[in-house]
Formats: sequence, C-alpha cells, structure tokens
Amino acid sequence: MTALLSIEGVTRRFGGLTAIDDVTASLRHHELVGLIGPNGAGKTTLFNLISGFTPLSAGAIYFKGRRIDRLKPFDIAHLGVGRTFQNLRIFPNMSVFDNVSVGAIGAQGVGVVSTLLRRRGPAEAISEQTWAALRAVGLEAQATELAANLSYGRRKYLEIARALALDPELLILDEPAAGLNDTETQGLADFIRRLHKGGLSILLVEHDMKLVMSICQRVVVLASGRKIADAPPAVVKADPAVLEAYLGVET
Ligand SMILES: Nc1ncnc2c1ncn2[C@@H]1O[C@H](COP(=O)(O)OP(=O)(O)OP(=O)(O)O)[C@@H](O)[C@H]1O
Ligand SMILES: [Mg+2]
Repeated sequence: MTALLSIEGVTRRFGGLTAIDDVTASLRHHELVGLIGPNGAGKTTLFNLISGFTPLSAGAIYFKGRRIDRLKPFDIAHLGVGRTFQNLRIFPNMSVFDNVSVGAIGAQGVGVVSTLLRRRGPAEAISEQTWAALRAVGLEAQATELAANLSYGRRKYLEIARALALDPELLILDEPAAGLNDTETQGLADFIRRLHKGGLSILLVEHDMKLVMSICQRVVVLASGRKIADAPPAVVKADPAVLEAYLGVET
C-alpha cells in the first residue's frame, strides 16, 4: 500500500546549519501521527518543506504517490494538504467568515464536502465550504464578528477552520495547544480525535507530551534535524535516545 505522505531522504540546510538531516518518514491514509522534538529540532522546518514554504536541499516528498517538493504552497494546498502555523496568521480586521473563506477560495477540494458540492458554482462552493469549516470548529455563531474579538483559544480554532475550508485529506498542525490552558487543551484533544474519526489524516507537532501521547497512533521524534525514533507512543516514551534528547536540552 502506498503511503499518503512520503518523505524520502530529505535534507534542508540554512547556510552552515542542517535543520533537517536526511529524514525519511511516512504517513498512511487515515493515520494520526505526532511529530515531537526539542526546540530547534526542525519540526516547523519539516512542515514548511511538506507544504512548499521552504525548498529542499536534498531528497523528495510525495503526496498520494505524486512528487510535490517542487510545487508552490498554493498547489500543494489544493492537492489536499491543509496546514496551520505556529504563529497564528489571522487577519484581525476581517470577519471570522472572511478569514476562513480565504482558505476555501480557489479550492478544488478532494474530500467529502467538495465532492458533494462539485456540481455547484464556485462562489456557492466557497461559501458552503466556509460554513462547513466554521461548523466543524464551532464558530458558526461568531461568523460575522471581527477575528480580533475572538479569544486566543477561539482564534486557534479559526486557524484550523481556515485549513479545513480547503477540505484537505491531510491536515498538519503546528503546536495547536501552545498557549492553551489544561481545559482548553483537553477540548482540543477531543476535537483532533473527532477530525481523525471523521476521516482526516493528521500530522501533529506539539510540545504538550500528554496530548501527543494520548491521541497519536505513532510518534516521530526529531533531534537536531535527525529522526531518532518512530514508534507507537508507549515505545517512544521508554526510548533512551528520546529521553536523552529531551534531558540534554532541558538542563
Ligand atoms: N529561515 C531560516 N533561516 C535560518 N535558520 C533557520 C530558518 N528556519 C529555521 N532555522 C533554524 O533551523 C533549526 C530548526 O528550526 P525549527 O523552527 O524548524 O525548529 P522547531 O523544531 O520547530 O522548534 P520549536 O519547537 O522552537 O518550534 C533552528 O536552529 C532554526 O534556527
Ligand atoms: Mg516550530
């Protein structure tokens, strides 16, 4: 069976620094995979490589068997890869609805919603996909409010809604729980689980270990740009190389 996402021998250098060092990893259809590692391990860089925001120095990336590492971010997004950013990219002076519809514009989605909407006109499809995404994150009632008026926690869902408006097959989330309290993090865990159950494949970067270990089927660990572990949560938790990577930077 071919992987949904396949990262093959990928390297990214920034001058003399090798941020991603010969990483090979994959994600199957409908898998929920965590990507963890100490600060500066290369997690966001790997996301930027997958989504086309950063070019590779070496290696190749395939999505559904198609090579994507030379495509533009917009094209990768429209093939079905939705992403969020570690630093929220919300337009504060735009409405919640407009923030999300930015994600749906031009979308030739490949998931369930797009298939249902295919026969309708583009404007209608954008509006339907936007509402579907707002519904999915529970922001329907705030659709006409300015994004600036949302709480920080709600803004995180807004950013996820924008990625969902593309009706992606693969969702990559960069630290969605950062800045959330325990209750909000628990709510987010339930939400990510629901998205996964609904059919999405998900790659999750998170510092909150409890969150990652409780919802992910498999965890990939990066340290200094190298993949040092790739196994189910229970195995990764007990892996001496992982413990050392974390202890090494926390002291
Ligand atoms: N555009 C860039 N130019 C130069 N160096 C960069 C660039 N982007 C990332 N780096 C470097 O690459 C390394 C990996 O950074 P990256 O942001 O991918 O780490 P991370 O695992 O996401 O860390 P964090 O947990 O802090 O978000 C770091 O040393 C960082 O300084
Ligand atoms: Mg990061």
